[in-house]
Amino acid sequence: MVGELLHNFNKKFGKFFFGNPNTLYYNIFNKYHKSLIAKKNGIGNEISEFINKGFFKTDIDSSEFCMKVSNCLKRQNIDNKKGYFQFEVDEEIKSHIINHINKDFSKILSEFEKFYNSRVAVAKVAIRRNYHLENTEKEVYSNNYHVDHYTYNHFKLFINLMDVNKNQGPLHIYSKKDTKKFLKINDYKDRSNYKNNELKKDLFVNSGKLGESMFANTTECLHKAGYVEKGFHRDVLFITFITVPDKIDAQENLFYYDKIFPQSIWNSKDGSEILKITKPKSLKKTISLFLKYYKNKIN
Ligand SMILES: [Fe+2]
Repeated sequence: MVGELLHNFNKKFGKFFFGNPNTLYYNIFNKYHKSLIAKKNGIGNEISEFINKGFFKTDIDSSEFCMKVSNCLKRQNIDNKKGYFQFEVDEEIKSHIINHINKDFSKILSEFEKFYNSRVAVAKVAIRRNYHLENTEKEVYSNNYHVDHYTYNHFKLFINLMDVNKNQGPLHIYSKKDTKKFLKINDYKDRSNYKNNELKKDLFVNSGKLGESMFANTTECLHKAGYVEKGFHRDVLFITFITVPDKIDAQENLFYYDKIFPQSIWNSKDGSEILKITKPKSLKKTISLFLKYYKNKIN
């Protein structure tokens, strides 16, 4: 009884106190992390945008990398049984990803490390193709507005593996401020229960060319996969990062978790051991995660 009451309280009151549909515990965690662990001094424009708005498009050109990956994808047998297709990340694709992230994203990721005051590591990699859906009532591939239920130490990079415009169903996302506005206007209860009035002026639609990329705080900003028009599809590479709560050696790289949980980064289902780190299951576990970050912060 008390447990159920607390569960509902935790589920509902993030919206009420913090203006996003994440849980109250995770929102409180974020608030204290931002004031006692994270460091805002000396950060660049992109990370400022990430902190204030919740997302930014990078100026990194991944087009060459994307061509190599999409050539590899052509070898796979694709089907549209589920409305989407999860590609296999084979050894060749894996090595392209490791090289590209280490070479071209290390600078921006070290800015994230300065802000979070913790080391950052890759938690999950997925390559997905979304297809047109005949029935939009049912949620098939995160096509309803939601936030990802993790603490804000979990964030995402989206790389366009093809040109994405309105027809391909680009990601839709609202800034932190507009997330709050959307919840109010749409009487948002949860991802399957809200009115669907798009705030056209405030919505950010992530269209772009092959090789363009965007970082987003998907735990505090409402987002969804866009509607794919008939005859079109969208291929995107998703990379999820988390900040590492443990003390790790300085020479460890962004693929640190590949050693700790072999194979979990690649081709794993959503419940991988790494993703669970930023998804504490109780108030007690949320507090102990916070203390771990605090104890092992860089500065
Ligand atoms: Fe999501």
